[in-house]
Amino acid sequence: MNGKDRQVIHVEASVSYDVLIGEGLLKDAGERIRKLGSAERTVIVSDDRVFALYGEALKNSLQEAGIRTGEFVFSHGEQSKCMAVYESLLESLSESGLTRSDLLVALGGGVTGDLCGFAAATYQRGIRFVQIPTSLLAAVDSSVGGKTAINLRSGKNQAGCFYQPSLVICDPETLRTLPEEEYRNGCAEVIKYGMIKDTGFLRKLKEQPAREWIGEVIFRCVAMKRDVVRADEFDTGERMLLNFGHTLGHGAEKLSGYQIPHGMAVAMGMASITRAAVKNGICPKETEEELLRLLQMYNLPTELPFEKEALVQAAGADKKSSGQQIRIILPEEVGRCVIRTIPRKDLIRWIG
Ligand SMILES: NC(=O)c1ccc[n+]([C@@H]2O[C@H](COP(=O)([O-])OP(=O)(O)OC[C@H]3O[C@@H](n4cnc5c(N)ncnc54)[C@H](O)[C@@H]3O)[C@@H](O)[C@H]2O)c1
Repeated sequence: MNGKDRQVIHVEASVSYDVLIGEGLLKDAGERIRKLGSAERTVIVSDDRVFALYGEALKNSLQEAGIRTGEFVFSHGEQSKCMAVYESLLESLSESGLTRSDLLVALGGGVTGDLCGFAAATYQRGIRFVQIPTSLLAAVDSSVGGKTAINLRSGKNQAGCFYQPSLVICDPETLRTLPEEEYRNGCAEVIKYGMIKDTGFLRKLKEQPAREWIGEVIFRCVAMKRDVVRADEFDTGERMLLNFGHTLGHGAEKLSGYQIPHGMAVAMGMASITRAAVKNGICPKETEEELLRLLQMYNLPTELPFEKEALVQAAGADKKSSGQQIRIILPEEVGRCVIRTIPRKDLIRWIG
């Protein structure tokens, strides 16, 4: 796929929808959204940074397509994925008189998508929403698959639900303004896909920086996510593989007061759990070496800067726990991971 090609991936879930990927799609977004039918009004949900960059272009596109539009803009950052911002978003939708036949548009990264998706799922018992991912992380992962959430004081994504978007419009041109660190965050999730599902993809990521073939990287990650979501929309089996690196990663995010971004935390989590897999005889040392080489190549961290005990406690609120058991995702080799359930109390010894 070269930069100008447009690709469509159809996701089959409780609500089926298309993911459109292609440079320049943002300016056609209004027309694409109009084709969903019946929406007279939209509200664009976006953080202040992204709205300043792309809000006007999206508004113009919606207005040209004959759709009235308003906006809800919040401060960028993980801290905004919280009850207070969620509440003020719902209040503002209600005050503006948005109806069930109208539509929300999430313009931004994973924080915007998760927050807007949860508001869409719960406002008037559910209105449609469209994802327009502008970070690499959102393009390859969070905009597809219908996981929506906000964080509670007790931990990451503690309030949320499965709620699929009606359409995903991914314009890789928007990634050109993405800060370098945010690009690296997205690369952590890209590497995750290779580690759980595709050795060839991982090999290519090693030979050629993702940035040089980004359209295809997004396409391949979304295709892998489509397959996983089709097999297990509600995260009771195969989909859990996508949580590789996330149990410890979520713990690290929480312990840092969300100063460590999600992608960096996932990179640290993948490295740590792979080290544990080697120690416990699940995978060979070469798997760890291969992963570490790749993480280093993409300037991603490989050490968790917290005590094991604190990490395990912080990870305790993770949704991958049930009762006294916790599910962890472990690599058996590069390109293949498995789900293991272990007693929660053994996790410290496991990662020790
Ligand atoms: N729902 C899911 O399936 C899923 C999957 C993975 C991660 N997540 C969630 O996603 C969130 C992380 O997403 P994220 O890394 O995109 O964070 P984010 O939404 O905070 O975006 C990161 C930063 O990049 C900026 N930004 C985004 N697009 C930009 C652009 N084109 N140009 C310039 N700046 C831009 C944002 O303003 C923000 O400051 C976490 O909350 C994580 O839990 C959800």
